[in-house]
Amino acid sequence: MIQPLPVIEPMPYPADAIPALQAEIRELAADRDAIVIAHNYQRPEVQDVAHFVGDSLGLSRRAAAASESIIVFCGVHFMAETAKVLAPTKTVLLPNLAAGCSLADTITAEEVRGWRRDFPDHVAVGYVNTTAAVKAELDYCCTSGNVLDVIDAIPADRGILFLPDMFLGAHVRRMRPDRDVEVWMGECHVHAGIDVDALQIARDGNPGAEVLVHPECGCASRLLYRMADGDLAPDGIHIASTEGMINLARELPADTFIVATETGIIHRMQQEAPGKRFVPADRRAECAYMKTITLIDLRDALRHEQYMIDVPEEIRARAQLAIERMVALGA
Ligand code: 13P
Ligand code: SF4
Repeated sequence: MIQPLPVIEPMPYPADAIPALQAEIRELAADRDAIVIAHNYQRPEVQDVAHFVGDSLGLSRRAAAASESIIVFCGVHFMAETAKVLAPTKTVLLPNLAAGCSLADTITAEEVRGWRRDFPDHVAVGYVNTTAAVKAELDYCCTSGNVLDVIDAIPADRGILFLPDMFLGAHVRRMRPDRDVEVWMGECHVHAGIDVDALQIARDGNPGAEVLVHPECGCASRLLYRMADGDLAPDGIHIASTEGMINLARELPADTFIVATETGIIHRMQQEAPGKRFVPADRRAECAYMKTITLIDLRDALRHEQYMIDVPEEIRARAQLAIERMVALGA
C-alpha cells in the first residue's frame, strides 16, 4: 500500500525540553530492557538519544545481535521489518506507523510474481529498500555496496530482474554491459530530486571539496555517464551507502565535503568528523517519512510498547533466505 507523504513538522517541542525527554527515554529503555537504534537520516535529537546509529542493513544486524528483548527501530517500516526477519524472537517497535518509504512502495509482491512470470528464467535481485513480502519473492537481496558482487555471483548465461531502484539499476547496466539486466522503474522521491546541475554548482562554489553521493540519487547514474563520457572529472566523486559516506567523511583528508543524499546524515558526519565542513548538494533533500519520528513518539513507543512489527513466518523465512545470500556475498 502506498503511504501518503507526511508533512515534515518543525521541531514539535521547545529545544529546552529535549534533555528531559531524552532522559525519560533512556530510563524507560533501561526499565523495559530495550535498545533504541536510529537510521542516519533521523532527526538529530533522536539520533542523539539512540544507543546505536547506522545505515539500514547495519541497524538490522545490530538488532539481530542485541541482547535486549525489545528493539525500538527509529527508521522506516521496511527497515523495522528487516530487523524482525533477522531477529524473530525479539519485539520490534516502530514509533510511528506513518514512516513508510516511497521507493519500497514502488513494487508489491504481486508485481514481482507477475514480472517473474514474464521472465521465468531470470534471477530476481532486489535492493534492501523493499518490504518483507517483496523480499520473500527474490532470489537475492543486495545493498548499494555489494550489488555488483551479487550480479557477478549469478551465472553469466542467466538474465537478471533488478528492482526497485532505476538509478541503481542503471548503474548495474553501465558497469556490467554484457549482462542481460531488466530494471524496475522505481525511484525514491528524495534522491530523484537531487539534480546533477545543483551538485555541479555546489562543486564550483567549493573547489577541492570531495563529493559523496548515495547510489539512489538521480544524479548518481547521470554522474557516472558524464564521467564515462569524459565531460566530468571523476576525481573526488565517491558513490557509497550512507555508512560508507560517513566512513569517507572521517577518513579522507579533505576539509570540505558535498553531500548528495538526505540532509539528516550531516548531523552524524559532524559528530564523526568534527572540524570538517559538509555542504548539502540540495538543501531540500529531506525524507518526510524518516522525519515523522519524534522524541514523543519514541517515548510513547517505550511507554506503551507500540507499534509492534510482525512478519508472518512463511514470508519471514523466505525473506531471510534472500538476505542471507546477500550477507554471504560480503554485504
Ligand atoms: P542506506 O541503506 O544506505 O542506509 O540507505 C537507506 C535509504 O533509505 C537511502 O535512502
Ligand atoms: Fe525511502 Fe527515500 Fe526516505 Fe530512503 S530517503 S527511506 S529511500 S523515501
